[in-house]
Amino acid sequence: FNGTDDDRRAFLSSGNQAFNKIESMPFPTVVAINGFALGGGFEVCLACDFRVMSSKAQVGVPETKLGIIPGWGGTVRLPRLMGFDNAVRWITTGGHNKAAAALRDGAVDAVVNPDVLRDEALDMLVRAAEGQLDYSSRREQKQSPLTLNEIELEMSIHTCRDMVAAKAGPNYPAPVAAVEVLAKASNMSRDDALEVEFQAFSKLSQTPQCRALVGMFLNDQYIGSVAKKYGKKSTKAVNHATALGAGIMGGGIAYQNAIKGFPVLMKDINTDSLALGMSEANKLLAKRVDRGRMSPLDAGNVLSRIMPSLSYDGIENTDIVIEAVVENAKIKGIVLAEVEGKLAEDAILVSNTSTISIDQLADNLKRPENFCGMHFFNPVHAMPLVEVIRGSKTSEGTLAAVVAHALALGKKPIVVNDCPGFLVNRVLFPAVFGFDMMIIDGADFQQVDRVMEAWGWPMGPAYLMDVVGIDTAVHCFPSILEGYPERMSDIYGGDYKVSPTKLLFENDRLGQKNGVGYYLYEKDKRGKPKKSVDDSVYALIKPHVRESQPLSDEDIIARFMIPMCIELAHCLEEGVVDSPAEADMSVVYGLGFPAFRGGIFRWMDEVGLDKFCDMADNYSELGKLYKPTQRMYEMAANGESYYA
Ligand SMILES: NC(=O)c1ccc[n+]([C@@H]2O[C@H](COP(=O)([O-])OP(=O)(O)OC[C@H]3O[C@@H](n4cnc5c(N)ncnc54)[C@H](O)[C@@H]3O)[C@@H](O)[C@H]2O)c1
Repeated sequence: FNGTDDDRRAFLSSGNQAFNKIESMPFPTVVAINGFALGGGFEVCLACDFRVMSSKAQVGVPETKLGIIPGWGGTVRLPRLMGFDNAVRWITTGGHNKAAAALRDGAVDAVVNPDVLRDEALDMLVRAAEGQLDYSSRREQKQSPLTLNEIELEMSIHTCRDMVAAKAGPNYPAPVAAVEVLAKASNMSRDDALEVEFQAFSKLSQTPQCRALVGMFLNDQYIGSVAKKYGKKSTKAVNHATALGAGIMGGGIAYQNAIKGFPVLMKDINTDSLALGMSEANKLLAKRVDRGRMSPLDAGNVLSRIMPSLSYDGIENTDIVIEAVVENAKIKGIVLAEVEGKLAEDAILVSNTSTISIDQLADNLKRPENFCGMHFFNPVHAMPLVEVIRGSKTSEGTLAAVVAHALALGKKPIVVNDCPGFLVNRVLFPAVFGFDMMIIDGADFQQVDRVMEAWGWPMGPAYLMDVVGIDTAVHCFPSILEGYPERMSDIYGGDYKVSPTKLLFENDRLGQKNGVGYYLYEKDKRGKPKKSVDDSVYALIKPHVRESQPLSDEDIIARFMIPMCIELAHCLEEGVVDSPAEADMSVVYGLGFPAFRGGIFRWMDEVGLDKFCDMADNYSELGKLYKPTQRMYEMAANGESYYA
């Protein structure tokens, strides 16, 4: 991808020439697909005359997920085999397709059991060679224009283009480019269509989105391999888990354990919390049953693995206790010490705390080596990241076992070292303080939300505070403000007396949980909270606004993003996180940082560190949150970047 247009042409045409040769062999060709045939692997299958697939295999063209389109004839052969609409769906969604779907859509000719795959493929080959299967017409079909008439084609193109553009959004150009390629090449021969494919592929391969998405793919493989290495070192088998607390997080953690096959004790001091935890689990399971993703029997079995309890009975047999009680260091300290006394010597104890130092919590424990942080994100079943936090006394065995358990729960664990806020919240809150300062400076929070959502965040900061819970967020403030006084004590030049977010909290505006935060919430027909604007929040904030100056979109992006980026650089430099790859995947998987930007370090590389530092210097009057590290300045001066 880093070469010239000619390099890309040479690379792609060598593949295309080979595939075209397969397609013009003087004898029929049948491919037997026995595993994952994705991207180029599936494109070689498409060059063959017939495809026989094992019922266990999966096929697909996931290139648009990397910001490109198939480049070895996928956009040419797929629509000619399965029709325009199906091919658009396959290519623009980039999914892995199971055998039944592949057969239904015409991507393969037969699906058979894995043990007879070879025999069936050979049988098909013999039938084609003997003339019972017409392979010549199949070849002609793949090399000729599409057979739709002009009106049908025009209608398909229109509908697909609009649908795909709406779904992909403006930040992901590849899916829309794929529709354009399919449309433009629909009345062309194979060879002309391949040229159209090449032109689009080459252009897309040079976009920042492609660099970011390919980088994400490589980073994802990297964090997977690091986690696997940790997990392999685990000598502690986890067969039974306990969730301490049945609130938003404890309930979610219990559900995730149960659905992955672990019997789990869910302990709370409050009967209502236990009932709510069970009913939330029930709702999630009912949804899976409704969507045909689980049988009612299996759903019942999952639910029966959760044992709600007001007592510790049975905890002596648990292998891992995941504490998720209220975010209060004193209460957590008492609860952790109490539960430790009831556990087997080698049982593991972890805390789901959002910000409280693991070392501080370990102070109350007799076996701090068996203790670390295991920070899930909300909602637990949907968010992939688990931060595993190493305290200074945590043993490597404990860390390995916790990483292994996170993997067993289907999560993506990333190990970080203990510090206030750990990695994800440590970088989120400086941005929240940046947001607060914008509001004090008269920015409209709705505008900030609009701008940051257009920039790619799934939700703007005001809406995010409402979703997280304004009380939850405000309870995290002290850990961060007191944890990093060298930067946090001079926020707004030391004049950070009024945090609008805190003001909302003090006025019982807690966000979605009580229906009123930055926005007002009412349940829609499906019971989901729907936001609307509430003018009274403006009246509440107004007395604290310094001057009402509209901020430009560029100002808003810079004032929100710079503190987050600089804090992440501190984390890397201090060794809280080992690599830019792990840091970037943490913010993508934990915070929903826009994937098409590839992560914070990737974004800074894309901007250029020299430009980033200049941009930060323009906001220096807002405090040290906006001061790049010495190392960042050095890297900027030397033309260095975080990724080679
Ligand atoms: N809400 C989030 O988005 C989020 C995300 C990540 C981490 N966390 C962290 O997870 C923890 C729990 O947060 P939450 O949002 O689930 O809170 P929550 O208020 O929804 O639930 C806390 C539960 O703990 C129970 N509890 C209190 N004392 C207890 C005790 N002694 N024994 C057993 N149960 C007890 C309460 O009855 C309540 O059900 C906190 O440390 C929080 O910082 C929260």
